[in-house]
Amino acid sequence: MAEKFDIHQLYEAKSREDVRAAYDRWAADYDEQIVEGGWEGPRLVVAAAAPHLDKASPILDAGAGSGLMGLALKAEGFTTVDALDPSAGMLAQARAKGIYRNTIEAFMGEPLDLADDSYQAVLASGVFTPGHAPPTSFDELIRIVRPGGVIAFTLRQDVPPEGFHEAMAAHEKAGRWTRVAQSAPWQSLARYEPEVFHEIWIWRVI
Ligand SMILES: C[S@@+](CC[C@H](N)C(=O)[O-])C[C@H]1O[C@@H](n2cnc3c(N)ncnc32)[C@H](O)[C@@H]1O
Repeated sequence: MAEKFDIHQLYEAKSREDVRAAYDRWAADYDEQIVEGGWEGPRLVVAAAAPHLDKASPILDAGAGSGLMGLALKAEGFTTVDALDPSAGMLAQARAKGIYRNTIEAFMGEPLDLADDSYQAVLASGVFTPGHAPPTSFDELIRIVRPGGVIAFTLRQDVPPEGFHEAMAAHEKAGRWTRVAQSAPWQSLARYEPEVFHEIWIWRVI
């Protein structure tokens, strides 16, 4: 059995390569351990975003990890979903679920080799958290989502990661997106980190 998944180790990760390597090590046991921890981010993001989406147009699961959001999307009848994640180990788990059209090994926060306006939505669960994808990720997500499409994601509510509220407000002020919804906070990892709360944000690209 691989070492126990411990997201605390990553909140102060020194480099993105450390993050990638840690998820590669955790990949085989991630699903069992995160579900045991009470994590419902993927299901809740899909439930919140679904009324704004059509079932067939492409969706990007950004920071897809082992593919739990893909499972939730499939259960709701979505048919065209790609997975993006820097960890080859996590993407192998995602591919094994047989849900995704494409799997893309890449870091958000870097230029993405994806065409403008190629998705109706980007959904991200558990990725905008300390030590993971930075707030500059939004620049590329806005570029690859077609006008009228949505970007929906979880964000820490108890201790919002640095720069995210500023980045959200800056894109709103610049007329790049408009706010659709901000959920009530929920205790997201009740059994591992009872102090942690997340909320779900949904933005519509202009
Ligand atoms: C806590 S897991 C969440 C996985 C899945 N979305 C879920 O909710 O179960 C965080 C994932 O973010 C990925 N990740 C870390 N930094 C990233 C970045 N800069 N861009 C995209 N994904 C990143 C990790 O490899 C890992 O698979």
